[in-house]
Amino acid sequence: MRVIHSQSELIKTLKVLTNIAFVPTMGNLHEGHHKLIEEALKKTKYVVVSIFINPLQFNSKEDFLSYPRTIDEDLSILQKLNVPFVFTPSKEDILGALQIIEIHLPNIANDLCGKFRPGHFNGVTTIVCKLFNLIRPDLAFFGKKDFQQLFLIKELVKQLNYPIQIIGIDTIRDYDGLAKSSRNTLLSAENRKKASQLFKLMNTMKDEVIQKTSSFKEIEESATKSLNTSGWAVDYIAIRSAQSLKTPVHDENHIVILGAASLGSVRLIDNIEFCI
Ligand code: PAJ
Repeated sequence: MRVIHSQSELIKTLKVLTNIAFVPTMGNLHEGHHKLIEEALKKTKYVVVSIFINPLQFNSKEDFLSYPRTIDEDLSILQKLNVPFVFTPSKEDILGALQIIEIHLPNIANDLCGKFRPGHFNGVTTIVCKLFNLIRPDLAFFGKKDFQQLFLIKELVKQLNYPIQIIGIDTIRDYDGLAKSSRNTLLSAENRKKASQLFKLMNTMKDEVIQKTSSFKEIEESATKSLNTSGWAVDYIAIRSAQSLKTPVHDENHIVILGAASLGSVRLIDNIEFCI
C-alpha cells in the first residue's frame, strides 16, 4: 500500500494509471467505509482512498476539533483491505491559502442539513472537486447514508461535466439498526442505547406513509415530537421525493424520509428510501 501525502506525489503516481476508483473519507474508518472500499475493489485494482478531515465543511471549530482522528488504525485497516493507494494530504497541501473560490449549489443545498449547517455542502463539494481534479477517477463511491450529499455530488458531476460515474452504496448499520458513523463513538453509553430510536422511528413513518394513515406533515410533526420527548433535539424529520429531495408532489412514489437530530452534543443523520 502506498501512502501519499502530497498533491505532486499523487499526480506523479496516478498519471500512468487508467480505470481509477475513488473513495473519499474523513477517516475514523468503520464498516460503512469498508463497504464502499470493497465495492470499489470489485470494479478495479486501482482504488484511491482519501483521508482528509475537511475544515471547509464544519460549522463550528469545536465540531472540527472533536472529530475523531485515528490515522494509524485507519492505515492498518486499509492495508488489510488491500487498498493500493491512500491519499492523506495536509491542510496546507490541499487547501493552501484561503479557499475563496467555492462551488455555487442549487437551493436544495440550503434545505434539510444545509439549513442547519450553512455552507456545509459548499465545503463538501469544494473539497470533492479538488480531489476529483487531482485523482481524475473513472468511478467514485459515496454512501447513501449521506443522502443529500450523494444527491448533490451526482448533480455536481452532471452539471460540471465530470466524466466520473458516481456509485451510491447502501447504508451499513449496527446490530440495532443505528447507521454506522464516525460520530457514534462520541455518544455516551446511555445515548448509544437510545440512538437506534431514529432509524426505528423512520421505519414507523415509512409504514404510515405507505398506509396513508395521516398527511405527510402530520407524520413528520408526530415523529419530531416523539423524538424531542425522548430527549433528542431534532433539527428536521422530512418526507421528500427521492428524485428531487423536494416535498413529494401528488403522484410521487419514490420517497425518502430524512432526519437529523442530536443526542447531547452528537448530531446523527439517517434516512430510509422506499417506493409506495
Ligand atoms: P465520511 O463521513 O468519512 O464518509 C465517507 C463516505 O462514507 C461517505 O460517502 C459516506 O456517505 C459513507 N458512509 C458513512 N457512513 C456510512 C454507512 N454507515 N454506510 C455506508 N456508507 C457510509 O462524507 C464524508 O466523509 C465527507 O463529506 C467527504 C465526502 C469525504 C468530503 O469531505
